[in-house]
Amino acid sequence: MSFVIAIDGPAASGKGTIAKIVAEKLGFDYLNTGLLYRAVAYFALQNQIELRDTDKLVSLIDSINFNDTVGTALYGSVVSENASVIAAIPEVRKALLGIQRTFAIGKEGVVIEGRDIGTVIFPNANVKIYITADIEERAARRFKQLQKNGEDIIYDDVLRDLQIRDLRDSSRNNAPLTKGSDYLVVDTTKVDIDAAVDSILKLINRAL
Ligand code: C5P
Repeated sequence: MSFVIAIDGPAASGKGTIAKIVAEKLGFDYLNTGLLYRAVAYFALQNQIELRDTDKLVSLIDSINFNDTVGTALYGSVVSENASVIAAIPEVRKALLGIQRTFAIGKEGVVIEGRDIGTVIFPNANVKIYITADIEERAARRFKQLQKNGEDIIYDDVLRDLQIRDLRDSSRNNAPLTKGSDYLVVDTTKVDIDAAVDSILKLINRAL
């Protein structure tokens, strides 16, 4: 049985960066499940599939090779927004569930990051961590990242998009973003990445 570290939290909370470093330090495999939803949204756009067309989205998922690298296009604003829309469709979540669970098979340890990892995908995860930060701080981080990727964007729009995505991700009926009482909460608003990684590694070492 693989040692599973589930990391959940809202957009731009720093969970991706932190989860990746934690995995590297522990020698565990790492999966960013947001990229799965982003890839579906990206290829739906490419193939002009309507976001309400559940059957076509499910067939699309069957045809995607998730190992193909798409690069920074997956992080654009439109893809982020559409990923959150299709992520609320139960059939889409169901079609992506197997990929996520299979990832842990045969591995010594995995760090898996997303919105429902400790609640739905691996409810028996060995460690569950919820990474969050204030919305303004998250918007500032996301704004910087989008600018770096060459998007012509203003901070207020980024803030508004994050608020909409937060609301959609945490209020959907199916696998909403939520932290159960079994989660350890790490707030990165005023903490840099290294300090957050250190405190998380301490928590994990206790569990190991
Ligand atoms: O984590 P990231 O912001 O890249 O995820 C993009 C979108 O994918 C989220 O806004 C959310 O709607 C969806 N998602 C999800 N469940 C996950 C990971 C991501 O619903 N486990």
